[in-house]
Amino acid sequence: MFASAVLSFAFAASALAVPALQARQSGPCAGFGAGSTVTPTYNFTLTAVPSGAGANATGAPLVLGWGPAGDSPAASEWVLSTEASWGENEWPYITLQDGALLPQPGTDEHGLGAYNFGTDTGDEVLFTIIGEEASPSTAEIFCAALVSGSYVELAVNGDAGNFALCNATTTWVSNQVNLVYAPNADNEDYTYETCTPVRVELIPYDG
Ligand SMILES: *[C@@H]1O[C@H](CO)[C@@H](O)[C@H](O)[C@H]1NC(C)=O
Ligand SMILES: *[C@@H]1O[C@H](CO)[C@@H](O)[C@H](O)[C@H]1NC(C)=O
Ligand SMILES: *[C@@H]1O[C@H](CO)[C@@H](O)[C@H](O)[C@H]1NC(C)=O
Repeated sequence: MFASAVLSFAFAASALAVPALQARQSGPCAGFGAGSTVTPTYNFTLTAVPSGAGANATGAPLVLGWGPAGDSPAASEWVLSTEASWGENEWPYITLQDGALLPQPGTDEHGLGAYNFGTDTGDEVLFTIIGEEASPSTAEIFCAALVSGSYVELAVNGDAGNFALCNATTTWVSNQVNLVYAPNADNEDYTYETCTPVRVELIPYDG
């Protein structure tokens, strides 16, 4: 009697323990290595490094810039542009919370919030900028992913390997270069022929 109680307790304990031991990354981090997370403890900036470049390759820093043409620049969505092509950076660092990518406002943008929404294949990584909200509506689709072991990569929709930098077709800034997820020739927001594949690395921000 006593022995079987101990035995059943042991079974119960191991039944509880096994799922924890075998836990796999899930959600936006599904398929990536242990340590990949939708909520890294650090803040960061993003940099686009040519795909296939070595671990120490320096990339092109990415910042928020105006997105696809709306009726006016102010009515447009926002995207991640190379800092070199956009020319300034008013959102000095980014946080990732439960898979939502949240650029943080600098002093000039105080009181505003940048919130990502869903990123479909062929689209730029899109944000809306509105007054700061305590419980904003965002798409929880990003992961700080460990792919190679030597750097942390941004993944969207469980995919870190399909980002590209493409020349935008926006009319208000010439030669703006934007981050696109899985570019295709049908999207009129950028010139497909200019797209070059990149990985997007998270660079811890300690400023
Ligand atoms: C990251 O940024 C958030 C929001 O600005 C801030 O509250 C937090 O202290 C920062 N975390 C670290 C580790 O610097
Ligand atoms: C990359 O940088 C690290 C640290 O500075 C260094 O130890 C390593 O040898 C470098 N790797 C390459 C491929 O240059
Ligand atoms: C794409 O943008 C880059 C950087 O602004 C520029 O140097 C290049 O000429 C552009 N390419 C085309 C085909 O417009």
